[in-house]
Parts: sequence; structure tokens; C-alpha cells
Amino acid sequence: MAFLDKHKVIERSPTLLLIFSFLVVTIGGLVEIVPLFYLENTIEKVKGVRPYSPLELTGRDIYVREGCYVCHSQMIRPMRDEVERYGHYSLAAESMYDHPFQWGSKRTGPDLARVGGRYSDDWHVAHLVNPQSVVPESVMPRYDFLLNRMIDGEYVDDLMETHRMVGVPYDDEMIAQAHADFAAQADPDSDYDGLLERYPGAQVRNFDRQPGISEMDALVAYLQVLGTMVDFSTFTPDASR
Ligand code: HEC
Repeated sequence: MAFLDKHKVIERSPTLLLIFSFLVVTIGGLVEIVPLFYLENTIEKVKGVRPYSPLELTGRDIYVREGCYVCHSQMIRPMRDEVERYGHYSLAAESMYDHPFQWGSKRTGPDLARVGGRYSDDWHVAHLVNPQSVVPESVMPRYDFLLNRMIDGEYVDDLMETHRMVGVPYDDEMIAQAHADFAAQADPDSDYDGLLERYPGAQVRNFDRQPGISEMDALVAYLQVLGTMVDFSTFTPDASR
């Protein structure tokens, strides 16, 4: 056949084959990649997802600093075993304000994407101080020093500005009130109305039950918000897409 004869020419010349393969892959790649540049947003917005409060964001930084992601993922895959164990599979929107994202790639310990509300603050504190005290067979290291490291959120507004630069919608008021909100969330006797207005559903407690704000307070505040922003009793995936 004439057509196949012509193709034989390409197949017999490594240079020609390379050139044409490169062309085909380039066109295929462009077709897939170029439309993404014209989409305003590749993440479907979901009700309830909000930026982290100053205290939660600080806790998140401690999570990253301590390398918790080395042993814990934060992404529930849509497979039955995962959904039955951890809850609704993770939505892209749930990590849209995570810079960098904490999906992780290793599960020495369980996935933490929905650990918020699963345990009490006391359990988290006891577990972080000495994991074997609550889970005897645990191989998780101790983080008891977090209780003694007091923090005042001195640079939390700078941290929020940095996140704003990469697209987290912190407004000027949120940044101006960062120090106040930071302190209010760890003190149930404070005036935290503004905090709740800016960060709906933020949990206000003395998370470690000790005077002052420690890194433990921030980390537990972060763990307790994980996976709780979207109300899955009312959530329905957008069928139009
Ligand atoms: C060396 C690996 C390792 C590191 C590092 C690690 N963990 Fe764990 N984690 C585990 C293991 C294993 C478990 C399961 C046993 C247990 O509950 O202690 C676990 C359990 C947990 C749980 C309970 C989850 C559940 O659903 O029962 C939480 C919460 C947790 N870790 C938080 C953290 C935080 C926060 C950090 C960082 C400060 C951290 N872990 C660092 C290994 C690790």
C-alpha cells in the first residue's frame, strides 16, 4: 500500500522518526495544556471553605516545620476503603488555601485530612506529648516541647501577607486584626465576635488548657479545623460540570 510505503521511510530513519514523534507529542501536549491558561479557575468553589485563621495558620506552619507530612497524608482518595475509614473523599477546594499543599506521599500514620473534631483537644495534647500514652503501639515521636514554647503571633500578619501574595484572599482588615484574632481564638473569655465574622466556624478554646498561648495551642487549633469547613450533610457535587 502506498501510504504504508511512505510511512516506512519515517520508520527507517531514526532522525525523521524523532522529528515526527516530537511534533506529535508537542501538538498533543499543547492541546492539553493551553486551555488551562485560559480558565479563570480550575478549582470548583465549595461553600464553607475559608482561609485559615491566624492561629490555625500558625499551627499549620508548625505542622510543616515538624515534618508531620513525612508520616501523614492529607488527601482521602475516592476509594471505598478510604472513604469508609476517613470520611468523604477530599475536594480540591479543601486545599485551595494550602501553600504548599499537604497531600503528602507517605502514610506511616493515618490520613489527617478529616481529623478535625474526631478527638478532643485533651486527646491531641496527650497524644502529641507522648503518643504511646494513648496508642501503646504507636511509632510516632513525642512533641512535648510544643507545650513549653510560648508564642505571641508577632509575625503572623507577615505570614498572612505572604499567603495573600500567592492568592489566599486575606483582606486588609484580616491582616490589620491578625494579632487580635490570634490571641482571641485561644482565649474563650476574650471578645471574639470579630474573629468569628472573619473566620466563620473558627473554634475558640484554650486548646492546651494552660495559661498563655503555646505552639501546642496553635497546632491543635489547626488539627481541629482539618476537614471540617465543608458541611457534607448538605454538599452536592456540581452536576453541571
Ligand atoms: C514517624 C512518623 C510520624 C510522624 C513524624 C508524625 N506522626 Fe502522627 N502518627 C504516626 C502514627 C504511626 C500514628 C498512628 C498511631 C497513633 O495514633 O499514634 C499517628 C497518629 C497521629 C494522629 C491520630 C490520627 C488518627 O486518626 O487516629 C494525629 C492527630 C497525628 N498523628 C498528628 C501528628 C502531628 C501533628 C505530627 C507532627 C507534629 C505527627 N503526627 C508526626 C506517625 C507519625
